[in-house]
Amino acid sequence: MNDNLTLVDTARLVLHDREYDFPIITGTEGEVGIDIAQLRNKTGVITLDNGYGNTGACQSAVTFIDGEKGILQYRGYPIEILAEKSNFVEVCYLLIFGHLPNQDELDKFQFSLTHHSLIHEGMKKFYEGYPPSAHPMGILSSMVSSLSAFYPEADYNADIELNIVRMLAKLKTIAAFAYKKSVGQPYVYPRNDLSYSADILHMMFAVPSEPLEIPKVFEDALDKLLILHADHEQNCSTSTVRMVGSSEANLFASMSAGISALWGPLHGGANQEVIEMLEKIRADGGNYKKYIELAKSKDSKFKLMGFGHRVYKNFDPRAKILEIAAERVLNLLGIKDPLLEIAKNLEEIALKDPFFIERKLYPNVDFYSGIIYRAMGIPTNMFTVIFALGRLPGWIAHWKEMRETLGARINRPRQIYTGETKRHYIPLSDR
Ligand code: CMC
Repeated sequence: MNDNLTLVDTARLVLHDREYDFPIITGTEGEVGIDIAQLRNKTGVITLDNGYGNTGACQSAVTFIDGEKGILQYRGYPIEILAEKSNFVEVCYLLIFGHLPNQDELDKFQFSLTHHSLIHEGMKKFYEGYPPSAHPMGILSSMVSSLSAFYPEADYNADIELNIVRMLAKLKTIAAFAYKKSVGQPYVYPRNDLSYSADILHMMFAVPSEPLEIPKVFEDALDKLLILHADHEQNCSTSTVRMVGSSEANLFASMSAGISALWGPLHGGANQEVIEMLEKIRADGGNYKKYIELAKSKDSKFKLMGFGHRVYKNFDPRAKILEIAAERVLNLLGIKDPLLEIAKNLEEIALKDPFFIERKLYPNVDFYSGIIYRAMGIPTNMFTVIFALGRLPGWIAHWKEMRETLGARINRPRQIYTGETKRHYIPLSDR
């Protein structure tokens, strides 16, 4: 058990007239959990928790969320402060190594991130095989998995820190190349003199041999977006990374799995869906009230994308920061985006509607991020790729934490079987 956790009391379970005691553990922020590790051994029964809404799968010191109060902290630092004062590379270091770097640590880290950003030329051939219509998330996941072929020592858990740096440094190149492939332009190589965020934009939007000045407002906005996405404790993709990593699969294979999990529209893919939804509402005459009604109707299967969250039941602090950032970026660029108007109207009306109030549905991180990506000229199908770039340090931090945890076990849930009981096989001729 983690030394930071205190054993407060026991929880008593009465099952079939017998009583069983289980330890209660309390985290450093006062969260309480019942440790049921011995439940099946002692009682023969298991728990059933659809979607893991009540299940703590691990003990972690990376990120704290209080969904009722709208609190998000990376390694103890509030997200609002990090978004305002830090930068993405520093946040990567913080998440992965557990403390804010001093100047020397930051310089060395920054240096390695820039000097490992090239991908093997052999990987460029893989891009050639994809049709231009390929979704960049599919390309991203495959390319990241392919990194394990180029750095096989990852399989033996050798050079973990070097492979972490490679992973962080190369993902932006892989992502930008995926974009270049989709628009049929030549690849643009990374530049070591640019910040992490500016380099992403440079590789996406420059053309070879023509330097491109990345506007500071874009660089800052992207950096903030990456920070806001950098970790979110045991979400679907991070849990996937831990699940895959628990079999001792290598770093690249585990990150590739995380990218695939993030792709879905209920998770990171929601940012693309939000913009597509707002565009649809706009094309439909801007009648947002109609879509609020559709979202409330059980028959329609329509959801207000970018709304609701498993953990946040008051507000998503990232959405608040992004709403202000979206306005700021648009103002600085002198852009008036009708989708921002529609988004704000949807939010205003939803926040007063009993359906959304009763279910505690608020805008989440994906609701306003797409407005900023659009203003920067990032196409819709790249939104989730940017999310993946942001989430990468979080996945790595959790993967590393799990690897370093003494006594970590392979993740292997159980089930309540509901299928047929034992049957006799009937030969084909008798069926
Ligand atoms: N629009 C309309 N109704 C909703 C929405 C929505 N966006 N989200 C939840 N509900 C309703 C849902 O139908 C259910 O109603 P009822 O109790 O009458 O059956 C109730 O609210 C509870 O929803 P749930 O589906 O049980 O909640 P969950 O915790 O399982 O799912 C969620 C969370 C984020 C998947 C869900 O809210 C959702 O699908 N939102 C839209 C997709 C989205 O924006 N995803 C991004 C999440 S944040 C970033 C990230 O994780 O990557």
